[in-house]
Amino acid sequence: MKALITAGGHGTRLRPITYTQNKHLIPIANKIMLQYAIDYVKEAGIREIGIIINANDNSIQNVFGNGENLGVEITYIHQDKPLGLAHVVKISQSFIGDENFIFYLGDNILVGGVKPFINDFNEMNSNCHLVLSQVLDPNRFGVAEVIKNSIISIEEKPISPKSDLAVTGIYIYDSNIFEAVNNIAPSKRGELEISDAHQYLIENDFDITYSEITGWWKDTGQPSDLLDANRLVLDNIQGDNNGSIRNSSVKGEVSIGTNCQIENSNINGPMIIGNNSIIKDSVIGPYSSIGEECKIISSNIEHSIIMDGCNISNISKNIKSSLLGKNVKISSSKDSNQGRYLLGDQSNIEL
Ligand code: G1P
Repeated sequence: MKALITAGGHGTRLRPITYTQNKHLIPIANKIMLQYAIDYVKEAGIREIGIIINANDNSIQNVFGNGENLGVEITYIHQDKPLGLAHVVKISQSFIGDENFIFYLGDNILVGGVKPFINDFNEMNSNCHLVLSQVLDPNRFGVAEVIKNSIISIEEKPISPKSDLAVTGIYIYDSNIFEAVNNIAPSKRGELEISDAHQYLIENDFDITYSEITGWWKDTGQPSDLLDANRLVLDNIQGDNNGSIRNSSVKGEVSIGTNCQIENSNINGPMIIGNNSIIKDSVIGPYSSIGEECKIISSNIEHSIIMDGCNISNISKNIKSSLLGKNVKISSSKDSNQGRYLLGDQSNIEL
């Protein structure tokens, strides 16, 4: 079995972070989002991975290279235009060949990996195995209508969903999916929809089976999704301390990187702090991921993702449910009556 993982798109709902980095490189609990997908498929015994990237984007290659260091073999497949997920499958046919494969949307994060679903596919021996999850807002997703344990229809982002079962971004196929992606027409938004390919399989009597996710699953489209995913991953983190702690209290599971210095602070897990970060006179956590080389002085941070190299000092208001890109600097103004801002396009601040 091979794996196809998406890492393209423009992440427009995550701007300004995605102006300077591919969404799939955003860290969740200090681990790059795409790394979760690679680890999950590797754990399922898959070595050959195709990663779909936007034309001219070398950032993923710069991080993962040919996969050698991770014990996998990565082939990069360029998608010139965002023509839909079924189009992604279509352009990957020569990479996949005749093998079965898992198609994994690189911005989906779940607990427990994908191995159980691949086992279900192998046991049920179907043409297409989908992973469903009950959601509160089905109209954001592909939605499966299930009657007596059979999927009888699938619609992409329906206005009136026929169920609350979202089709997650984890699909397992045999090569019949290529017949489907080659026989569907673009949707109104001009894309070849993966849901239309699934509907084609249903209408043409192919065997579609499914598993339901019982734990949590997250499609990380917008900032609040990233913070939720961060919280959910941190809930399972194991504490370890590789730094130096002075005059501070550390409660709950907290992973502290090498060379970190924590002084005069309260650290409330679950939390992760990357290597070489300094925290002084602050209260941090719960549910916060602090990247590497960060400096946090006299500030309070809760339920946030703070990426590498940030410098936060003397902020009297709590920083909560926030997402800070790399090397962001927030400090208190010398004049208590006025603030100075240097904000990139589409920055978002609430004072
Ligand atoms: C895509 C698919 C949708 C699926 C979702 C899962 O939507 O088109 O069917 O339910 O991924 O993450 P997108 O997130 O690209 O809007």
